[in-house]
Amino acid sequence: MAQHSEHVGMNRTGIQMSPLDTKAMLKDDGSARGEEGDESALADVRSSYIADAEGLGSVPLPGTITGAVSMGVQMLKGDSPQILLDKLGERLAFERTGARLYDALITKCEVMLDGEISMSIEDLQAIRSDEARHFLLLSDAIESLGGDPTSQTPSADLVGVESMGLVQVLNDPRTSLAQSLHAIVTAELADKAGWETLVALADEHELTDMVNDFTIALNEEREHLALVQTWYEEAIGLTYGDVEIEPDQSGPAATP
Ligand SMILES: [Fe+2]
Repeated sequence: MAQHSEHVGMNRTGIQMSPLDTKAMLKDDGSARGEEGDESALADVRSSYIADAEGLGSVPLPGTITGAVSMGVQMLKGDSPQILLDKLGERLAFERTGARLYDALITKCEVMLDGEISMSIEDLQAIRSDEARHFLLLSDAIESLGGDPTSQTPSADLVGVESMGLVQVLNDPRTSLAQSLHAIVTAELADKAGWETLVALADEHELTDMVNDFTIALNEEREHLALVQTWYEEAIGLTYGDVEIEPDQSGPAATP
């Protein structure tokens, strides 16, 4: 069963599986060393596409008169409401995906959770409802700036593509709880970083209420990250408390 996907088995992907072919491949004729070509042709094709590309779309103009006036006033003040709207749209898209990731994990846990991890389905439901609440908070924030929360901003599009792999991992019936939690840790890292940016942006726009609300959301995300990281470590067999990272005293090159 998927819990035991780390078992030793018939994996034949490595070069050691075929010593004769390895020898032939590494024969000193240069053919396996890239001497007959490089990646410049690929780079040339990419470069021409990059030069002609138009970017990932745009932040829509507010669809209401009050929205348009509010955006205009902010722009006259020297603010960049479109950047804030773009990033609010980004977090909204990611929080929606986050709720779906937890839905998928909850389903997986209903089949597989066996008491070896301190995580419970109730814990996951609580985090899931935080993500859904954050989604609504962002929707309100976008509306308060005159924006349309149903629009797909460029950064919303970006995180949609970024998180596709996470969604695939969670929805794959073969992935174990540890593997699913690995993807969830990635999502929570992105969540935390995303809210930090939003708090800073709202602060720059002197939107005090948003700064307060977003700071609460950020603290909830920090808690999510700490929890899922602990569960992930338990799932790969580490006991909580085994991992102690020394505070960085001397700068780089601190080896364990
Ligand atoms: Fe989260």
